[in-house]
Amino acid sequence: MNVAMAVEHLDVAYRTPNGLVSVLRDISLTLYHDEILGVVGESGSGKSTLAQTIMRLFKPDVASITGRVVVGEQDLYTVSPRTLREVRWRDVAMVFQSSMNALNPVISIQAHFTDTLLAHLPHLTAKEIEERTRNLLQQVRLSPAIARNYPHELSGGMRQRVVIALALALDPEVLIMDEPTTALDVVVQRSILNEIAAIQRQRRLAVLLISHDFSLVSSLAQRIAVMYAGQLMEITEHGMNSDASVAHHPYTEGLIAAIPQLLGNRVRIDGIPGDPPDLAELGTGCPFYDRCPKRLAMCETTPLPPRSTKTFIRCHAMPDIEEGNHEG
Ligand SMILES: Nc1ncnc2c1ncn2[C@@H]1O[C@H](COP(=O)(O)OP(=O)(O)O)[C@@H](O)[C@H]1O
Ligand SMILES: [Mg+2]
Repeated sequence: MNVAMAVEHLDVAYRTPNGLVSVLRDISLTLYHDEILGVVGESGSGKSTLAQTIMRLFKPDVASITGRVVVGEQDLYTVSPRTLREVRWRDVAMVFQSSMNALNPVISIQAHFTDTLLAHLPHLTAKEIEERTRNLLQQVRLSPAIARNYPHELSGGMRQRVVIALALALDPEVLIMDEPTTALDVVVQRSILNEIAAIQRQRRLAVLLISHDFSLVSSLAQRIAVMYAGQLMEITEHGMNSDASVAHHPYTEGLIAAIPQLLGNRVRIDGIPGDPPDLAELGTGCPFYDRCPKRLAMCETTPLPPRSTKTFIRCHAMPDIEEGNHEG
């Protein structure tokens, strides 16, 4: 499998009035061509920070960042500002969390596409731009006629489709989607997710699909990366439908158990007791220590071993489960 994007040893700390607060710790993952890699974790676990760091959107005065993000041959943290502008949207595009509310209210949908396309392809004629816009809108199952509309004239689901079509405008290899359907009702959510899956297959895109919802990601992604308090705990190829013999990290087990189970006509929800830790007060050991049903004495202070393999479980209590596929 070919690598579309590699994230290597990413550490991110926000600069706050109280000093640096470490939000991402030693994140390494590989996204392959033609796959959907899910990223799941509770609110505050650092998912949006990861997405924005991959796009190199933080100015140095906002966050201190070390590590590498390699897209194609380019390390986004060493390329020139000009190359970075080219790489964004053309090689790696992003659908931001809540971006359907970030469309410019005073310009038409067509103008959004015109601006995006012309910024990268200034030679395009008006006719070519219209043609491309029509194709993009059709790809997300919108009528090309809505190009004349303004954002407020469209429903939330339609605006979210517009945002996805905009991200596809420059035919990227990698698409990062941060909670692309969270603000939508369940029926609209399902149909947009189906379209994302179809577009991914058709374009053989590499998609990083970020959500707090394990079951949603599990229905689409080939692999699922589980984040907790800014660290990757597991990358698994087995979602919630895998049989009980598949081992998961204790935190992943908790996430799966927290999905409402239909038991006859009753619904059971087993949450994970306790709350995520304060990121400013994390120690050296496993961040899940306080809540973990399988914790050992060593887990409190012994750092988790680094992993950048295709699938793994980072857990002192489950030392033998790493599934290999080492990548150099
Ligand atoms: N600009 C910022 N400055 C300081 N802390 C931030 C900033 N943005 C996010 N955080 C903190 O970083 C942590 C991770 O946030 P975020 O990446 O948004 O998580 P998620 O997307 O998983 O909900 C949270 O504790 C949040 O409060
Ligand atoms: Mg977020």
